Amino acid sequence: MTNIITGDDPVSDLLAGRVQSAASSRIAVFGLGYVGTVTAACFAGLGHNVIGIDTNDDKVAQFARGDSPVLEPGVEELLASGLEQGRVAATSNIDDAVAGSDLALVCVGTPSLANGNIDLRYILAVAADIAGALRRLDKSTYTIVIRSTVLPGSADKVRSVLIDNGIAPPSHDVHVVVNPEFLREGQGVEDFLRPPLILVGADDDTAGSQVLDLYDGIVADRQLAPTRVAELVKYANNSWHAVKVTFANEIGVVAKALDVDGVEVMRLLCSDEKLNISSAYMRPGFAWGGSCLPKDVRAVNFAAKSADVVVPMLSSLLPSNGIHTSRLIDLLLELDRNRIGFVGLAFKPGTDDLRESAMVEVVERMNGKGFLCRIHDQELIPDELVGGNLAFVQSELPHLGQLMDDDLEQMVAESDVLVVSKGSDRVNAVLAAAGRGPDSANPLAVVDLVGLPDNVRSAVSYYGVAW
Ligand SMILES: NC(=O)c1ccc[n+]([C@@H]2O[C@H](COP(=O)([O-])OP(=O)(O)OC[C@H]3O[C@@H](n4cnc5c(N)ncnc54)[C@H](O)[C@@H]3O)[C@@H](O)[C@H]2O)c1
Repeated sequence: MTNIITGDDPVSDLLAGRVQSAASSRIAVFGLGYVGTVTAACFAGLGHNVIGIDTNDDKVAQFARGDSPVLEPGVEELLASGLEQGRVAATSNIDDAVAGSDLALVCVGTPSLANGNIDLRYILAVAADIAGALRRLDKSTYTIVIRSTVLPGSADKVRSVLIDNGIAPPSHDVHVVVNPEFLREGQGVEDFLRPPLILVGADDDTAGSQVLDLYDGIVADRQLAPTRVAELVKYANNSWHAVKVTFANEIGVVAKALDVDGVEVMRLLCSDEKLNISSAYMRPGFAWGGSCLPKDVRAVNFAAKSADVVVPMLSSLLPSNGIHTSRLIDLLLELDRNRIGFVGLAFKPGTDDLRESAMVEVVERMNGKGFLCRIHDQELIPDELVGGNLAFVQSELPHLGQLMDDDLEQMVAESDVLVVSKGSDRVNAVLAAAGRGPDSANPLAVVDLVGLPDNVRSAVSYYGVAW
């Protein structure tokens, strides 16, 4: 039976044997640095048999004695206990490591090259080493788990190294899986045993589940994803953390220049868990707009500039949004089909507010270039527009009334390209029934800005901008 970590002190739970994995696996950990040592110690604590291997003999010797090669609270106790129970060993010999394991956790470094790319040489060297050992040992079944941080496509490169070394079906059943590490140095054991997420990227469900099962005993959200998605998640996470710190610092310096307590501003910002600290606004889609965001982003940049405060991230927001709008225009120009139908014109669903809607700019630009544009927006009645909304339309899209089409089905039938920025069940039903897939005589190119369901995607000639 598997017990799970429930107490406040997970290391004590492991040391006391209160948490044990249901099935013990034989794991080789390649690279005894921060990630490898923490990983090895914690998996040993969960009841697995772990053999550590490193090209640095001093680290191997240290590990073999139960001395942690890195300073991380809890690691040494877990290693010592693992040694005592015969579940921890170390070697410099690749054949010993592969012979004594069913899967390898690759935790070697992926440092930056001068151009910012990652240096995969250590990962690929491990792959070649493992391939050689598998051949020498005549071992046909094995799983290689990349725990290091690697860009999408890296697992494929490892697979290529295996194939180049003769490790491929039908003689070999060897899988390459990614399992990114989310630990923070200094609290690596705590983060390993109480992870924010256990993520495994695998193109083979059995190999993916084999790796998820290693974490038996740990309570956490477990997600299986395609390999390339899992590879990129780690970079998205770390970019997001960098964005958060940079944002807080930029708000802090603007606040300081305005004689405002920036720490209090950020505390209050974080207290809103509905819109601010939440998944709101965190899905790729189309450019933002409306009556508030552009105006307010301009104002905060004005305040910073007036105070001589340089805020590169805040000042990049409007240009970045403009570039995103241009991506849609470029795609429509590339498709170069004459009749374009727009489903949705207001800046977001549930409103008829057109002020600074990026879609208004797109329609205006395509119209100006001679494309025949039609617009269907259920929530928009041009005759009922008033105030600033009316003034914006009159200056940006004076012929709006003539472009509007109440009849969605007819507009779809008479369009070569459809841009969907407002989705609905009705839109889905009309597109799914249109019978204009990529192989039809009259395919309908649909540019999806909202995330249309699969049955609609497959029923048309489908394009995305941010996916
Ligand atoms: N340090 C962190 O907090 C952290 C957190 C999450 C992810 N990561 C990622 O994990 C990876 C490892 O990071 P780290 O900080 O543990 O690195 P590290 O430099 O501390 O350790 C890497 C180890 O790999 C060993 N090594 C190199 N080539 C080898 C080979 N062919 N065979 C066996 N061992 C070999 C090195 O001797 C070294 O001991 C990186 O991709 C890093 O980006 C690090």
